[in-house]
Amino acid sequence: GAPKPLAGRSVVVTSGPTHEPIDPVRYIANRSSGKQGHAIAAALAKLGADVTLVSGPVTIPDPVGVKVVHVERAEEMRDAVLAALPADVAVMVAAVADWRVATAAGNKIKKKPGEAPPPLQLAENPDILKTVGHHAKRPKLVIGFAAETENVADNGRAKLERKGADFILANDVSPATGIMGGDRNKVKLISHAGNDDWPEMDKDAVAEKLAAMIAEQLAR
Ligand code: C5P
Repeated sequence: GAPKPLAGRSVVVTSGPTHEPIDPVRYIANRSSGKQGHAIAAALAKLGADVTLVSGPVTIPDPVGVKVVHVERAEEMRDAVLAALPADVAVMVAAVADWRVATAAGNKIKKKPGEAPPPLQLAENPDILKTVGHHAKRPKLVIGFAAETENVADNGRAKLERKGADFILANDVSPATGIMGGDRNKVKLISHAGNDDWPEMDKDAVAEKLAAMIAEQLAR
């Protein structure tokens, strides 16, 4: 069979958006298809890793050969990621909502004619990547993404430092690039060793290249 350089290694991957409820029928969220995160989970499993994929609400199927934990909110995603530690590697790909509604309503908020719209009081969500990057059970490799629309390299490097990550895959998600929701991606790998521009390729190919790099890093 195919070589399994990640046999015996455990990995936790996050993917998709989080949905932060306003009331039982409404939520706030970031745009995210889950395509890149799911592809990474699948590529790591193909190399023999024991993969836990913590996924927010997405419409794509669960990858095969992967343990999938379905969550809704950022706090649930954080709890599921921490429950998957210790792990050799963490790859945080989810587009986590930065804020949640401080107190979600238990019943649907009624629209009352003639009344002002209800104000939304927001609270900051946990930063899951940053939590994992500074955790007592920090995985050997902690990897994150940085979706930027400008100053991609500088913003990515700042994120590498702030979040305690070993690698950041930074990409330009300006609407003109078509990356958001599309099948292709163009990333810049940012590490303490420097920056590496990867050519534009399918999200599946980005996933395979990242999985190969992870195997190489763990073998060092
Ligand atoms: O700060 P920013 O959202 O741009 O950072 C992106 C990286 O951090 C991604 O890897 C994302 O999965 C992760 N992240 C997280 N928890 C958050 C926000 C971002 O894990 N609350």
